[in-house]
Amino acid sequence: MSSQRQETVRRIAAPDIAARKGKTPIVCLTAYTAPVAELLDDHCDLLLVGDSVGMVVHGLPNTVGVTLEMMILHGQAVMRGSRRAMVVVDMPFGSYEGAPEVAYDNAARVMKETGAQAVKVESGPTINATIEYLVKRGIPVMGHVGLRPQATLVDGGFKAKGRTEAERSRILEEASAAAAAGAFAIVVEGVAEGLAREITEAVEIPTIGIGASAGCDGQILVTDDMLGLFDWTPKFVRRYADLRGEISKAVAAYADDVRARRFPGPAEIYFAKAG
Ligand code: KIV
Repeated sequence: MSSQRQETVRRIAAPDIAARKGKTPIVCLTAYTAPVAELLDDHCDLLLVGDSVGMVVHGLPNTVGVTLEMMILHGQAVMRGSRRAMVVVDMPFGSYEGAPEVAYDNAARVMKETGAQAVKVESGPTINATIEYLVKRGIPVMGHVGLRPQATLVDGGFKAKGRTEAERSRILEEASAAAAAGAFAIVVEGVAEGLAREITEAVEIPTIGIGASAGCDGQILVTDDMLGLFDWTPKFVRRYADLRGEISKAVAAYADDVRARRFPGPAEIYFAKAG
């Protein structure tokens, strides 16, 4: 990536995403590393350094074990790999729920050390005061309602939300409150058909759906899921590639070549200079 290119490209920022409400759908994917961010950058409006990194890259059973340091490290990598897409970094479990002041210190650290354009927080009882506190102090915030991956230990696993009337109206209220608190956009995850559309109509900020139907202002998926890196994917994921199969085939061919002494060949070795 040349420094000249870097200088001439303006990164998409929170106000640009907010202005896309009701217009062309906003394309988002997760990214955790520099080379993948570079591949996604030309195609996506927003790259989320999701705390799903804990499960996808680090093999954790859920996102509870993800630390601020992990998010900062992956945020820095994604910023280095991309130049145009907006980069949003997830605030990990335990870094923002306690008090707005603690959330501010941690979010400011993420913004300073990664150079990302915003942070994302999952909804919870105290979250709207925190969103307002951060936004008023210059930190753009993305909300997250519906299925909350950081709360699966109390919510009973990765299950679709909004299937009862009580849950439906609670999620709708949470989304409206996040918008009123100053969030520039909101992720709507794993909700029953119809609720995402209702939220999208109710709030003035863009909704970004994952497992939430086409009734949102944009869509996001975990990149590794849509590229087919895992043998199992949730129902709402469309697999656009079979990287698991491709990698397996490539590694088997490499292993065969090494065992048969076909690799390395003459084109893949160094020769001493004559004289
Ligand atoms: O961490 C993540 O990848 C997310 C997406 C599922 C939206 O929050």
